[in-house]
Amino acid sequence: MTDPPMELGTFERLAASRRSSLRVDPQAPVPSDLVERLCQVAAWAPSHKKTWPWRFAVFTGGGRSRLGNAIADALDPATFDKPEKIDKFRVKYLRAPTMLVVGSVAGRSAIRTVENRDATAAAVQTLLLGATAVGLASFWSSSIPDADAAVAELCGWEPATATVAVIYLGWPIEEVAVPQRPPVVISRRDR
Ligand SMILES: Cc1cc2nc3c(=O)[nH]c(=O)nc-3n(C[C@H](O)[C@H](O)[C@H](O)COP(=O)(O)O)c2cc1C
Repeated sequence: MTDPPMELGTFERLAASRRSSLRVDPQAPVPSDLVERLCQVAAWAPSHKKTWPWRFAVFTGGGRSRLGNAIADALDPATFDKPEKIDKFRVKYLRAPTMLVVGSVAGRSAIRTVENRDATAAAVQTLLLGATAVGLASFWSSSIPDADAAVAELCGWEPATATVAVIYLGWPIEEVAVPQRPPVVISRRDR
């Protein structure tokens, strides 16, 4: 038997209350079974050709420094656009108790690789909404393409897996400002 439909307002409040926030308690652990369950929820995202391209890797404790060091070591100050920021990777992931890296495997063609990435981005948002639903703060930080190979190796993923999101997860210690959205533009063509 299927569940009755959810009130759209309930889902609206969930979607609108998801914030990108680093204001978390780095000492308050996020249970690993909860993180695992969020990854399972994320896997309900759509995926063209059913490639299920998402990959997840969880970093806690000293693993967070290992992640940051792997990224910093992979970056070449001569070519990285912000060389002065490279060493910050070594410590920045200690700001949250759990770091979750989400990768997307390469496809059989350029378009499939793009679609895999689209699917993985959908999975990331699904995961963030799940995190919001259970009261976790989350923050989707950008991938660092120059470090993709090093991250894939560290995570034990297929070579050529692209990092899509480096997510901070933790229990919130304060609220953050709501970036209001501009009006949504919707074109209509009825004939
Ligand atoms: C692909 C992607 C990458 C992002 N990378 C960063 C980042 O590196 N640093 C950052 O401050 N915010 C990053 N963000 C978060 C946005 O800044 C944030 O979503 C935006 O400010 C709106 O705030 P909200 O998420 O609280 O609604 C990223 C968001 C997306 C979707």
